[in-house]
Amino acid sequence: MGFTMGLNLLLLMAMVATNILSLYHLSSTLVSSKSPSPIHSPVPDHLLQQLRTIRATINHLTRHQPSSDTASTTGGKPSSSAVPQDLLLYSHLSSIASSCHNHPDLLHKYMSYTPFSICPHDPELQETLILNGCHPLPRRRCFSKTPSKPPSPIPLHPFPTSLPDSGVIWSKYACKSFACLSEKQPGFDLKKQRQTLVTFSSELDLPIPQFIQIAKSANSVIRLGIDIGGGTGTFAAVMKELYNMTVLTTTMNINAPYNEAVALRGLVPLHVPLQQRLPVFDGVLDLVRCGRAVNRWIPLVVMEFMLYDIDRVLRGGGYLWLDRFFSRRVDLEKVYGPMIGKLGYKKVKWAVANKTDSGGLKHEEVYLTALLQKPTSK
Ligand SMILES: *[C@@H]1O[C@H](CO)[C@@H](O)[C@H](O)[C@H]1NC(C)=O
Ligand SMILES: *[C@@H]1O[C@H](CO)[C@@H](O)[C@H](O)[C@H]1NC(C)=O
Repeated sequence: MGFTMGLNLLLLMAMVATNILSLYHLSSTLVSSKSPSPIHSPVPDHLLQQLRTIRATINHLTRHQPSSDTASTTGGKPSSSAVPQDLLLYSHLSSIASSCHNHPDLLHKYMSYTPFSICPHDPELQETLILNGCHPLPRRRCFSKTPSKPPSPIPLHPFPTSLPDSGVIWSKYACKSFACLSEKQPGFDLKKQRQTLVTFSSELDLPIPQFIQIAKSANSVIRLGIDIGGGTGTFAAVMKELYNMTVLTTTMNINAPYNEAVALRGLVPLHVPLQQRLPVFDGVLDLVRCGRAVNRWIPLVVMEFMLYDIDRVLRGGGYLWLDRFFSRRVDLEKVYGPMIGKLGYKKVKWAVANKTDSGGLKHEEVYLTALLQKPTSK
């Protein structure tokens, strides 16, 4: 008994001693490296401090993982945990990449690459990680694969007769050309999509020229905007073609090269998912438009974050335009309507109509097209 205790004590002392030694060694190398060494300059204190803060934050967040249903339910129920629910959710959804921890298998696959060579071509893996909140993506030290020759001819107009197929790496897509896509995916028929944006065929339509007229008569100048979930960028294309306006398009590459299509039209594609903070500063935009990508399938809490982020980027007097937002009729009345109402915007247009496709009839869904103006003072 006495012997084992003595041994344990000895071991403990040995451990402490080695630690003290290594500590001494480390600190002395830090001190000695103060002498100017061109290659291994010491890490500045403020950087170390930042790293420590980042590590502490990540540890904190990973110890408080939100339960898996937070993101998928219409929730927002306060949990018993002391950490505010908002913070938990934000850590799960926001761009600080903490959600990468939730998908170790995908992340491992994504991070298996040879540094300083060509990255594996895995666009679908990237989309999955981004959609799960793992953004910005962590891979840093490899070269992204690009098409083997520059796209040609590069269109100078947002409505070219055709987009150059050489601007896309097609290997991961079912279609191998834009001609194929324009038949299979509605957004790639540029002319047809243009038509739907400038014509009035039901009360759910707000043709772009009419919107411009409304803004003009309110003495509101529209020059800058963002189209959320804008697909191939046709809204931005019309705004540029007809009114010289700059509209950014957020778009994901789900099953088709949407980002490349937008860029090939000379427009700016922002590769960000719906749940991400918009990458622009507060109060700088005249217009935010949400197309059909914004609908009742977005978790309610995310929807709320999105509305407040939209409010953040809009200038006073700017417009929020919801184009065919769909939800159940009862949810529009009880949930979405009041949520939008909380922004305190002026309802310039508010049109609701039944969604008459089979899914819409089954779930008693409606479309809402709304044009809302942010008050000038808040
Ligand atoms: C757009 O800008 C071009 C070049 O500055 C100009 O020639 C054209 O008239 C403008 N179009 C509109 C609709 O303002
Ligand atoms: C819309 O659908 C509801 C049932 O969900 C029905 O009662 C109503 O009459 C419909 N309205 C129109 C204009 O068809």
